[in-house]
Amino acid sequence: MKIIICPDAARAAGLAARLLADQVRDKADSVLGLATGRTMEAIYRLLVGTARARGIGFGGVTTFNLDEYVGLGAEDAQSYRHYMQAHLFSHVDLAPGRTHVPDGAAPDADAEAAAYEARIARAGGIDLQLLGLGENGHIGFNEPLSSLASRTRVVTLAQATLVQNAGMFGGDLSRVPNRAITMGTGTILEARRALMVVTGAGKAAIAARAIEGPVCAAVPGSALQFHPDCLVLLDEAAASAL
Ligand code: GLP
Repeated sequence: MKIIICPDAARAAGLAARLLADQVRDKADSVLGLATGRTMEAIYRLLVGTARARGIGFGGVTTFNLDEYVGLGAEDAQSYRHYMQAHLFSHVDLAPGRTHVPDGAAPDADAEAAAYEARIARAGGIDLQLLGLGENGHIGFNEPLSSLASRTRVVTLAQATLVQNAGMFGGDLSRVPNRAITMGTGTILEARRALMVVTGAGKAAIAARAIEGPVCAAVPGSALQFHPDCLVLLDEAAASAL
């Protein structure tokens, strides 16, 4: 793991956006693994601006998102497909057929998860996987005690995650779906490069456990310690317990 501590969240987001733009500049047919959550919003905004300013096109790029809520379709404002449309896909020249998010409205979620994993493999695997870190240590929706070798599958969300993400559902916990399709921790570890971005004082304790603690299923993010090419960007607040 390489660690970079930025003075603030805006600069961490700026650096993440630059690294993503560099990846696409250097390999026009890159396969990007993408993430959702509040941390990613500034990154996508800055990526769109950077790509425009530097004339970097996304026409050859393929994307795979980490996860999606079971039961939500593209038209649901809280779905991750909708989030990605709003924050990135509609602002760059990505081919619609090349943006992949698990289909939360698929009639058979288990089959969709298996098909998603196969689609990643058919695309040749992920060149650069962008990741956030949940307050409970999850990556994607791999909750504490998920197998570190897990593959894309349907999972039940932890109570802490429902609480953390309720803001996207108007603060109404009962509206947060309690299942999701997520890339597995094992799937994530196969990305050729990983870029995890963690900001804010609220993540300081879990960031320290993920980066410096023992690699363990209780903190899925700690599995990235085993990744041969993982960069973690933190702001000073999130790095304060390292
Ligand atoms: C969701 C996503 C995760 C993300 C996490 C952190 O749970 N499934 O992939 O890392 O949110 O979100 P935030 O950046 O809002 O703290």
